[in-house]
Amino acid sequence: MSQILEIIGCKYPIIQGPIGALNNPKMVAAVSEAGAFGMLALGYATDLEAVKTSVAQIKDLTDKPFGANLMIAMNPNNEALLEILAEAGVKAVTTSAGSPKRIYPKIKELGMKGLQVALAAAHAVKAADVGVDAVVVSGTESGGLRTNGPECTNMILIPTVCDMVDVPVVAAGGISERRGYRAALALGAQGVQIGTAFLASEESPASQAWKEAILGCGDAGTIRLPVGGMGMRTIINPKLSELLAAGADLNQEYNLMYAPQAWTDGDFDLFPAGAGQVSALIKEIKPIKDIIAEMVA
Ligand SMILES: Cc1cc2nc3c(=O)[nH]c(=O)nc-3n(C[C@H](O)[C@H](O)[C@H](O)COP(=O)(O)O)c2cc1C
Repeated sequence: MSQILEIIGCKYPIIQGPIGALNNPKMVAAVSEAGAFGMLALGYATDLEAVKTSVAQIKDLTDKPFGANLMIAMNPNNEALLEILAEAGVKAVTTSAGSPKRIYPKIKELGMKGLQVALAAAHAVKAADVGVDAVVVSGTESGGLRTNGPECTNMILIPTVCDMVDVPVVAAGGISERRGYRAALALGAQGVQIGTAFLASEESPASQAWKEAILGCGDAGTIRLPVGGMGMRTIINPKLSELLAAGADLNQEYNLMYAPQAWTDGDFDLFPAGAGQVSALIKEIKPIKDIIAEMVA
């Protein structure tokens, strides 16, 4: 059994990419029931009772393993969240958006495993030095929060990191089907993390407008939108296209705070739909178990 399967404890080395704006126990359970690692997105979770309820709902729906994502720099509640998760029997979490240095002692103390998300090789090496159990390496094609600066594709980043760290590597970004899954494993990753493809799945609570934006997105259909010193990969819609052509200061035009509302309402003029470049490969809305079955076939 691979080290990653030992850490996440499920049938396939496939992790649900957490999406902060979509926190849905049914979807997490659907991923776990299909043999992958369902993931509760707790990056912005402040209501601890609501988290306990979500965890209990997942456990009512599946007895298979699931995890949770904590965004390190975004949330002062991470230690309390870890205690809730450990109490519920969660064995592994992913951590992102911050240095793993301070949170990993708590993860270890609770007997859990932790996978740190890294957007660049240097960060993966630092995380491995801190003692994380695995790194989730996320190339520039990925959906979600990015940097504003130079970035690398997974085709280069995965083998680079595999050569530099001793811990197992999970590839995040650009994977929605069998070809990408196999490519990631061929590049040296032991597993994959899937964001956009599950976001556009049948069980996803994302708005229909959000899913349709993904289905309609072509290979040059996304950019890293600069937001407050970071980047967020979004789908280019007519308004964003006009702003790009006019050379507008996108940082002034959009505020990341409005993203969850915009994505829920399908109001992409308020904030463009978040998604990865892999949107270009997603042509229909499918059940999660079909996406996973096709991937591992
Ligand atoms: C809209 C959106 C929101 C995301 N939010 C989070 C988050 O809250 N925490 C996190 O660690 N990753 C987040 N991600 C990244 C995903 O978990 C995953 O790593 C990424 O989407 C993988 O790339 P893919 O979209 O090509 O599959 C987000 C991704 C998207 C598309």
